[in-house]
Amino acid sequence: MIYDQAEGLRRKLDNNRTPNQAKTISVISGKGGVGKSNFVLNFSLQLINTQKKVLVIDLDMGMGNIDILMGVHAEKSIINLFEDHLSVHEIIETGPNGLSYIAAGSGLNHLFNMRETDRSFFYDQYRELVQMYDYIIFDMGAGVTEDGLFFILASDECIVITTPEPTAITDAYGMIKHVVNMQRSMPIYVIMNRSLGYQEGQKSLRRFNDVVSKFLHVQSRSMGIIPDDKTVTQAVIKQVPYVLFNHRSKAAKAIKEITNNYLKDSKEIHGQSSITFIEKLKRLIEG
Ligand SMILES: Nc1ncnc2c1ncn2[C@@H]1O[C@H](COP(=O)(O)OP(=O)(O)OP(=O)(O)O)[C@@H](O)[C@H]1O
Ligand SMILES: [Mg+2]
Repeated sequence: MIYDQAEGLRRKLDNNRTPNQAKTISVISGKGGVGKSNFVLNFSLQLINTQKKVLVIDLDMGMGNIDILMGVHAEKSIINLFEDHLSVHEIIETGPNGLSYIAAGSGLNHLFNMRETDRSFFYDQYRELVQMYDYIIFDMGAGVTEDGLFFILASDECIVITTPEPTAITDAYGMIKHVVNMQRSMPIYVIMNRSLGYQEGQKSLRRFNDVVSKFLHVQSRSMGIIPDDKTVTQAVIKQVPYVLFNHRSKAAKAIKEITNNYLKDSKEIHGQSSITFIEKLKRLIEG
């Protein structure tokens, strides 16, 4: 695709991404209810545990619930930034262990239809955010909306969450197909959540990545498996992230391992996109 060629060229010519700019990650799924929000929350807390600065942005517009999962109440949301021009400093809320997050809110105008001034205000604010954090993680709704797709395609990486159920697997595949058809160079990580056994989970994850590679001709990376663990449900009911609810639970141990491997892995992967999230987003929206 022309877009990818352009990016390759830009990467060669321009290596000026400052090392302390946040990496933007979209966490996505095909089917709903597979564990995206729980993953985002617990992965972020684990990154914080390793001294990383993390901001979670709930982009599940109208259905966002990251604040409920933490047992906190958000006064402001991303809508206040777009529509009322509140600064990021005014809309960032704080969760457990100092986790920064921005709630979803509802009623966001389509990015296309937004006034130019609203969009450029957002661009300016986002540029501030990338200086403040190491990771900015989007919790996306299930499936894909037009606006959601812009955010996904502008991200540096995607993490796809699925469970071993055939319906979830098929939808995750469909989602990856959708993303790579638009942008083949997007790095894609896959999490097999709610695995019933370690070996079984690893096997489904390998099989899934093989199918992606065979039919879509891109290599998705195994990020890890998270066991089906009743601690997760208990933690959700108590509105405490499971890494804090019981740090010895199977799910918490899995998240720790996943985070450590991810951090090791991303150190070894060079050639990160040098065009920033905002440059990509702008190009996607404004052509
Ligand atoms: N590893 C797990 N073990 C057991 N139950 C889990 C696990 N992960 C998620 N769940 C269950 O699945 C439910 C849905 O999880 P979550 O809200 O994170 O999914 P989601 O993908 O964000 O959903 P949505 O598409 O609605 O945003 C949780 O409330 C919990 O009961
Ligand atoms: Mg969710």
